[in-house]
Amino acid sequence: MVLGGSGLVGSRVLDLWADDVELSAPTHAQLDVLDEGALTAFLAQTEAPVVLNLAAWADVDGAEPERGNRAGRVYALNARYPTQLAILCGEFGKYLVHVSTDYVFDGATVDRAYREGDPTGPLCWYAETKLEGERGVLGAGGRACVARIEMPFSAKPHRKLDLARLTLARLGRGEPMVGVVDQRITPVFLDDAVRAMRRLVEARFTGTIHIAAAGWTTPYAFTRAIAARMGLNADLVAPETFADFAPKRPAHRPQHSWLDVSCFEEHFGRDILRAPEAELDAWAQQVSAT
Ligand SMILES: NC(=O)c1ccc[n+]([C@@H]2O[C@H](COP(=O)([O-])OP(=O)(O)OC[C@H]3O[C@@H](n4cnc5c(N)ncnc54)[C@H](OP(=O)(O)O)[C@@H]3O)[C@@H](O)[C@H]2O)c1
Repeated sequence: MVLGGSGLVGSRVLDLWADDVELSAPTHAQLDVLDEGALTAFLAQTEAPVVLNLAAWADVDGAEPERGNRAGRVYALNARYPTQLAILCGEFGKYLVHVSTDYVFDGATVDRAYREGDPTGPLCWYAETKLEGERGVLGAGGRACVARIEMPFSAKPHRKLDLARLTLARLGRGEPMVGVVDQRITPVFLDDAVRAMRRLVEARFTGTIHIAAAGWTTPYAFTRAIAARMGLNADLVAPETFADFAPKRPAHRPQHSWLDVSCFEEHFGRDILRAPEAELDAWAQQVSAT
């Protein structure tokens, strides 16, 4: 059962898994996950042994107006609901994969990427609520996995623009954009992330695990690499420092938002998560083919 199947990540899960998995993916209209009675009834009647949760409030800046509000929608979706979902999955004997984010870290670590057990330090309300959701899921007592993903980017059109498709759109129109130069990021090609999640499900992996690129880049290098692959003008990307970029956004963001994927590689090998250059080759090939 996939919850949040219309979202950026969820829609690609449905695309890539539909061929060989029997999926139940209620839409928001069919199931409001904040309606506890409806959620309980849905889980009680479904025979699905696995639940993948992608339903969330994923708008980082849009969460800030609710900062500190535990009666608000952001808290309900990112903290209270996943906890309740995990309790219900435990009661009904279902395995849960709950998707979380690199934003649980403060981004101050520059010498190495964040490992699963590193201390967290959320900087914005979105991140605080996601962290509380993680704790709720892992504390519920059932068989559950928290998969932290970072900056998923897709070759497929979706109403939500990820950094790669935003770059494509801006540079395609000949518009300038900025790229942060002093920020370490590990953006994951969404198709790779979806394959990685499939492995978690098959293995019934429990605990926290990182799903990201197997190597880091910067927003500046990433956007220029896209321009190079797509025949666009890389000089439209202007370098900017994090110190100049960050204050312009409503939510505080981690500077070095990078995830170490060696735990994933130890369990599932090195052929799923790729370095940014290889991810972008695959992404560009897909974009060009569509
Ligand atoms: N996108 C990123 O850059 C990123 C980075 C790191 C981690 N993540 C995590 O990845 C997960 C998926 O993110 P995303 O970018 O795919 O999010 P998204 O595109 O905003 O999708 C959110 C999904 O949640 C559903 N939803 C929201 N409220 C609901 C409700 N009350 N009842 C039922 N469904 C509801 C939405 O359905 P409707 O649209 O129909 O309302 C949509 O399918 C989230 O946990 C997010 O924190 C995302």
